[in-house]
Amino acid sequence: ELYNFRLLEPGTKVHGVIGKPIGHSKSPHLYNPAFKAAGFNGIYLPLLVDNVANFLNTYSSPDFVGYSFTIPHKMAGFECCDEIDPIAKGIGAISCMIKKPNGNLIGYNVDYLGAIAAIEEGLIASGNASNGPGSPLAGKLFVVMGAGGAGKALAYGGMEKGARVVVANRTFVKAQDLAAKVGGQALHLSELEHFHPEEGMVLANTTSVGMKPNIDVTPLPKNALKHYNLVFDAIYTPKWTRLLTEAKESGAAVVFGTEMFLNQAFVQFEKFTGLPAPKELIRETLIKNTS
Ligand code: ATR
Repeated sequence: ELYNFRLLEPGTKVHGVIGKPIGHSKSPHLYNPAFKAAGFNGIYLPLLVDNVANFLNTYSSPDFVGYSFTIPHKMAGFECCDEIDPIAKGIGAISCMIKKPNGNLIGYNVDYLGAIAAIEEGLIASGNASNGPGSPLAGKLFVVMGAGGAGKALAYGGMEKGARVVVANRTFVKAQDLAAKVGGQALHLSELEHFHPEEGMVLANTTSVGMKPNIDVTPLPKNALKHYNLVFDAIYTPKWTRLLTEAKESGAAVVFGTEMFLNQAFVQFEKFTGLPAPKELIRETLIKNTS
């Protein structure tokens, strides 16, 4: 029932999420019922893809119109665009791609908005917002773990909001490149455990460490978490990653990956369909499908 294949007909608009692995993705569970509720003639598939360029060349039919990108293809997707939205260009990665009527592929990054909005709301709700008229993140030490597509979006967003950005990554040279781009500091991920120049920092995980099925691992040992006021995890399967569980036990406010996921899903739905997103339906469906 999820995919409603019986309703496929010429003109049905085909969408999907491109990643590897892809079995964990909740996106098909969200978009298919949402398309139906909005009366939109579309389908949304999980697409296990090795090579993004090959995939896009093979499935070039005009009815294949919209894609989301997830680990590890946000940067490969960027390389395949004919046009790139200015924010995605600044970030260097895309999270979604739309085929225009003339066949051009245009890339956007909606991770940036979704994640930063969720973190800002979390800072306000937990009483940890910066004082003053600017962003709740302004002036804060904002540590981003990971320097892939999502890491780039978070670091870029932090910089835009006036945070002091630190990028910590397993491959140090990628941390250096990203930190240079956002005017921040680079660390090797293994150094982060002993990095606490001040208290009350904000932490964002964009690595895949802790994602199902490997739920017993964490990118940062628990003893380091006490230096943070708020911890965000971009992973949303499971909802309570080991990182978030230990952050809560350490007294930090936590922001779930589901919040980022929902914020970006609303924006993507509107880009895919040109219709307002059925937000409550999407939120309820996600809650039903995550634990
Ligand atoms: P996304 O587009 O979702 O950001 P990505 O571009 O593949 O996905 O980035 C994955 C991130 O998770 C990278 O920062 C990666 O670190 P490397 O740059 O060193 O590859 C990080 N990552 C993945 N597996 C990891 C692991 N086992 N330990 C630490 N970091 C890991």
